[in-house]
Amino acid sequence: MPKTTKELLSFDEFDERRNPPPAETDFSRIAESLVSRRSFLGGSVAFGASAFVMGTTALTPAPAFAATSRLAFKQVAANTLDTVTVPDGYSWHIVARWGDAMWSDSVAFDDQTRGTGASQERSFGDNNDGMALFTDGTRNILAVNNEYTNLEIIHGNRASNGPETEDDVRKSKAAHGVSVVEIEQKDGQWGIVVDSTYNRRITADTPMEITGPARGHDLLKTAADPSGTHSLGTMNNCGNGRTPWGTYLTCEENFNGYFASSDANYAPSAALKRYGVGNEDWGYGWSKYDERFDISKNPNEPNRLGYIVEIDPMDPTSTPKKRTALGRIKHENADVVLAADGRVVVYMGDDERGEYLYKFVSDGKYSAGRNNADLLDAGTIYVAKFNDDGKGEWIALTPATTGMASQAEICIHTRMAASAVGATTMDRPEWVASNPTRVEGYCALTNNKNRGVKPNAGGDATPVNGPNPREKNLFGQVVRWRPADGDHAADSFDWDLFVTAGNPAVHTGPEAGSPNVNADNMFNSPDGLGFDTTGLLWIQTDGNYKNKDGFAGQGNNQMLVGDPDTGEIKRFLVGPKECEITGITWSADRKTLFVGIQHPGEKGGSHFPGGGSSVPRSVVIGITRDDNELIG
Ligand code: FEO
Ligand code: CA
Ligand code: CA
Repeated sequence: MPKTTKELLSFDEFDERRNPPPAETDFSRIAESLVSRRSFLGGSVAFGASAFVMGTTALTPAPAFAATSRLAFKQVAANTLDTVTVPDGYSWHIVARWGDAMWSDSVAFDDQTRGTGASQERSFGDNNDGMALFTDGTRNILAVNNEYTNLEIIHGNRASNGPETEDDVRKSKAAHGVSVVEIEQKDGQWGIVVDSTYNRRITADTPMEITGPARGHDLLKTAADPSGTHSLGTMNNCGNGRTPWGTYLTCEENFNGYFASSDANYAPSAALKRYGVGNEDWGYGWSKYDERFDISKNPNEPNRLGYIVEIDPMDPTSTPKKRTALGRIKHENADVVLAADGRVVVYMGDDERGEYLYKFVSDGKYSAGRNNADLLDAGTIYVAKFNDDGKGEWIALTPATTGMASQAEICIHTRMAASAVGATTMDRPEWVASNPTRVEGYCALTNNKNRGVKPNAGGDATPVNGPNPREKNLFGQVVRWRPADGDHAADSFDWDLFVTAGNPAVHTGPEAGSPNVNADNMFNSPDGLGFDTTGLLWIQTDGNYKNKDGFAGQGNNQMLVGDPDTGEIKRFLVGPKECEITGITWSADRKTLFVGIQHPGEKGGSHFPGGGSSVPRSVVIGITRDDNELIG
């Protein structure tokens, strides 16, 4: 039976029920005695002009920024309104909503039915997440992830708030994947170009090619594809990346939630369990109508998900490619930069409590004007090890370092490879963003209530450590690193914390956050990250919006801007009720900032954007300045 709203679990809760970690061990107490809050309170090496972030205690008053601030807007106050709030002098408009028509034969969105399989296949997908804008001459093509669906919203026309028919599942599969739409600006507002030849829906059923080291491996072979080289569809497409050669990267995150077993006694392998795959799905019900998602019949199908998929947004007929060389994890996003010698470096987070931060370094070098199409098929995956002295290293995942049989196996069972080399367990690595004005990377570690309490799904200990300095971490932090020799391909780095989120209005001590957090700019659960061309860091949140207890005064989810040089952070945007803010990209002229508003009303408390009694819908919005000047 589909789950009711009450029964519906967050992905994190779902994972824990699937694979409950052992009870508390004594490692947290050991860790406490070793590192305690030393790194948080100033014992670690902080670098650069923002050393105060870690160089003083959390009780130190926030520095005064006004004299040198690069954040030239009036901060938006935290609020719980059911709309988007932006600073004075800025305006926002809707660019695309779940269910919007992409072709003239698309059926208009219907609040009563919330669409059908056929209408959804011809419409903008649900729960938009990462996105990137590409240009072709004067044409603007927006590639947008459609991460997942909230059952009680998309199936709210059903008494059960869940899928009940084969067409419900067809609709659900079509609401996932990627929407590629041409957009154009009229009277200052952007919207979808209906019937553009660029428009394309990629769904959970779109044919894909599997490339890289794992292509054709036995673990990828299924009855439908005995070659292990082609799969159908992509799903739970979370964050994104873009390559210097003009392609879009979409990242498969919580793919485990789509699999179930028709045989209640089926025993999933340890490898499937490590990825949270089990006999019961998250409530999608796909396995009832598509045996691909029945693990008792197709135990290898989950091995064909969890990758980064490369898409050519300029060619609607192109076949998306699953780049197995970048590993199989719950991929958050893919931050692409070039090493000093032109090799391609891709930073990647695995968003689950106690999982790891990775990077891929290509064998080949990027060269403008040459054929770079397959650069992501050969290279080395590294996993991060942070030391508490402010130094860190990238450990290569190879058969020699991991003891695993082949690079193909490492690319499929990447989590186990990382565990084998003793990497640093992290507080849910979400987006990574690299600063375009200097060689450094940032990763949002969104939160981890199990830090210092329970191991990860692989049994790896999660003691309090330098970059993850708080036990039972509810607020999250942003870690940053500077690669040695100013080269993203280097094996070592220095690190510090750019910000440790908290609530100084409620807490004193570590839960108050770092000194660049105050009662006016506070937030929890940093998730999406993006740098603008001026080197300012935009931070999007996906956190607790109950606005009470430890989160009192923080309001709805929000977007902030941080200055890496001074540590200053200001709130730029507050979203509507029960949404998360995720996905960020800019128009070519930098006069429009596109931002994603995902799942408003996930608990039934929003009617954004239509208002009244309308069905809440995820949207991409465009933000412009009223004086027509640049935004980043
Ligand atoms: Fe889709 Fe980890 O966020
Ligand atoms: Ca996210
Ligand atoms: Ca999140």
